[in-house]
Amino acid sequence: LPSVPLDRQGRPLRDLRLSVIEACNFRCPYCMPAERVPDDYGLDAASRLSFDQIETLVRGFVRIGVSKLRLTGGEPLLRKRLPELIARLARIDGLDDLALTTNGSLLARHARALREAGLRRLTVSLDALDPELFRRLSGGRGEIADVLAGIEAAREAGFASLKINCVIQRGVNEDQVLPLVEHFRGSGHVLRFIEYMDVGNCNGWSEQGVVTSQELRDRIHARWPLRPLDANYRGEVASRYGFADGGGEIGFVSSISAPFCGDCHRSRVSADGRLYTCLFAAEGADLRPALAEGELAFSQHLAALWTRRNDRYSELRAMDAPRSKRHVEMFLIGG
Ligand code: GTP
Ligand code: 5AD
Ligand code: SF4
Ligand code: SF4
Repeated sequence: LPSVPLDRQGRPLRDLRLSVIEACNFRCPYCMPAERVPDDYGLDAASRLSFDQIETLVRGFVRIGVSKLRLTGGEPLLRKRLPELIARLARIDGLDDLALTTNGSLLARHARALREAGLRRLTVSLDALDPELFRRLSGGRGEIADVLAGIEAAREAGFASLKINCVIQRGVNEDQVLPLVEHFRGSGHVLRFIEYMDVGNCNGWSEQGVVTSQELRDRIHARWPLRPLDANYRGEVASRYGFADGGGEIGFVSSISAPFCGDCHRSRVSADGRLYTCLFAAEGADLRPALAEGELAFSQHLAALWTRRNDRYSELRAMDAPRSKRHVEMFLIGG
């Protein structure tokens, strides 16, 4: 069996983020702006990896060291018969963690089936509680009430603690920070603030839009004192803080102000089977030809690709070093 390959920075591959669909029912301006992405955007179903291909692919990743899998989109709950896929993946030996990231709009409908299929962890993206602002931030497609109903349905279905991911943009939803913290404090769910990043090419990112984790933490701390918590595991993306009064925990993902490429054990695969070794990669490698050769040959091909990896985009950005200006779109790899 192939041993665990290391990339050119000495990093093993532990974590796979797999997009099951490129389509989304939202048009968040920072990801998939409606004026750039048509309403009916999406591949034809035949261009997506089949469930058989996905199972072979995941087994191949597990062979070379992956133990964590996160399903993403687009919006993954738009993929037909998703619980069937989850049930197949949940049975794979060596996969200790199976999670999914969703915008939550369809979660009320699907939470129970996801749980019964064997999904163990859920992350919901949520950038505003104010209904009008939420609508705007989803490109006029989403209703906050549906997302909150989805979160509640997930709890009832047995997901005791969700992660809630929130991106704050300067001058856009800064006023939602304290209401969001207040809403999720003491709920058992873990709210995490993610710095607004220069992912993709179609969102017109500028540094002016970034609110750093430090600034957010100071604002929250002034209202509800926080104390730092230890990481759950090496290479954890979010830094954790607890409320001093016992109101649970929150997290901060600081890819702009404190890059964490040194411990980056993640790879991403798009719904059409391309491997991206960085969130900011310009190009993906088509995995389908190797997949057709079966699990073992595929894992060897993958190991060879991984040993060539040298990505550390966020660190290069922080040093203002030369780096690619072209990036894969976020909705193709799900963050
Ligand atoms: P768990 O700790 O397993 O729950 O997952 P996680 O911390 O990886 O969380 P999640 O997948 O929710 O990631 C949160 C967000 O952080 C993503 O949506 C991305 O925006 C960002 N992020 C995650 N991984 C990376 C990474 O490798 N590089 C960068 N720059 N950002 C990342
Ligand atoms: N910067 C940071 N996070 C982003 N996401 C989408 N676009 C960006 C961006 N430019 C997040 C979404 C969601 C996850 C899939 O990625 O808010 O939580
Ligand atoms: Fe918004 Fe996520 Fe859809 Fe992108 S993939 S438009 S961030 S809901
Ligand atoms: Fe990993 Fe690329 Fe993010 Fe760095 S920028 S942590 S290499 S995905």
